Amino acid sequence: MLTGIAASSAIAAAGLPRIGRTASLPVPPANTAPADVARDEAFWQEVATHYDRTDGILNLEHGYWGKMASPVQSAYLDALRMVNTQNSFYARKDFADDEVEATRRIANALDAHEDEIVITRNATEAAHNLIRQYRGLGAGDAVLLADIDYPGFKSHMHWLAKGRGVRVVEIEIPTWTNQAEILELYLDAFDANPDLKLVLVTHVSNQQGLVVPVAEITAEAKRRGIDVICDAAQSWGLLDFQVTELGADWVAFNLHKWIGAPVGTGALYMRRGTLGKVAPYPGEEDPEGTRVAARVHPGTFNFAARVAIPAALDFHEAIGSANKEARLRYLRGLWSKDALGMGHLEVLGGSDEASWTGIGSFRLVGKTTIDDAIALQQRLENDFGIFSVVRKGLASGGCVRITPQVFNTPDEIGQLVDALQRLAA
Ligand SMILES: Cc1ncc(COP(=O)(O)O)c(C=O)c1O
Repeated sequence: MLTGIAASSAIAAAGLPRIGRTASLPVPPANTAPADVARDEAFWQEVATHYDRTDGILNLEHGYWGKMASPVQSAYLDALRMVNTQNSFYARKDFADDEVEATRRIANALDAHEDEIVITRNATEAAHNLIRQYRGLGAGDAVLLADIDYPGFKSHMHWLAKGRGVRVVEIEIPTWTNQAEILELYLDAFDANPDLKLVLVTHVSNQQGLVVPVAEITAEAKRRGIDVICDAAQSWGLLDFQVTELGADWVAFNLHKWIGAPVGTGALYMRRGTLGKVAPYPGEEDPEGTRVAARVHPGTFNFAARVAIPAALDFHEAIGSANKEARLRYLRGLWSKDALGMGHLEVLGGSDEASWTGIGSFRLVGKTTIDDAIALQQRLENDFGIFSVVRKGLASGGCVRITPQVFNTPDEIGQLVDALQRLAA
């Protein structure tokens, strides 16, 4: 269901069908708490009718990117046909209005101002630009990261530090932890390193789905004059939150994960009044320090993917962000609570409610090498028909990540639990 005014008129002019106009959206049960909606199988069956499924394998690796629901896919394909038909006539004339509309919707959903958001190709573009263009570092300063951060962002921070004579401090987060302990580890690192200028904080880790208390860490960092780059690539749509709740001035988002927009869509958020510390993209101008858009220079990108962003937000909002978080956590609990009682498995991640999400990871007890994790992933795939992914970034070693989507069923999670039991043999 595309709301872009310009896209609709371009489509009409091209004699193409109107984008997604007939799409039906899921309707959650009225006046029902998310924890109860999470267990309403009839509703989730209805949601699942909007997704095409993979045959022959149970895919529990949906942390890479989010499959588009059918109304989103229709909107995207309509937009693709329109863009291909109209070509530069659309891209040079009407696309700007559609991009403004997509940006408005993103800002609305995040409780941000429109001028605080620019659409990017992914979270990497947003975070890498923030890291590279950060102005506040010089010889003698230090930056902070954690082993649970995204590998491609950790390496970028190391690169930045090397080029500027900056020290990198890396903390290790325990394999099984909680909000208070994580916060304490960051605060201890702040105390131990008074030369810290910048910290990378990941809202939800791609390794094991651990939630980091970004708001508390950021509040303390700000009090000490430490700047924060927040990686919310994996959290938006997986958790129900708005950017204002994170307290961070600069945040990298994905729309192609849990928001379910086409691949090639992310967003950079920069809070009003904070742009001065991050230089414009090389060659861009922003003398007033007000243009977030001047922090990226994407070149030519996938217009249709951006045009379909409102359709993705329509679908996401129809399910309801809180309902989605609750369902994904419910599915995660269905396997991890059993796995925690299995002596041959080590479950990784959050021990308290606030620290875990729909994403989770595990390994066989004592089997911590990357080769061990690869063998485990292969066993799940070849012996049990369950697709998962190996994660390699934790200080404690390799693990296998399990990520159900909203269309997965409790029966499918039951298949995983059977497989986990049989891994003891
Ligand atoms: C926590 C986290 N950060 C960053 C990224 C990078 O996202 P993208 O490749 O879409 O830029 C990912 C992707 O999996 C992630 O999980």
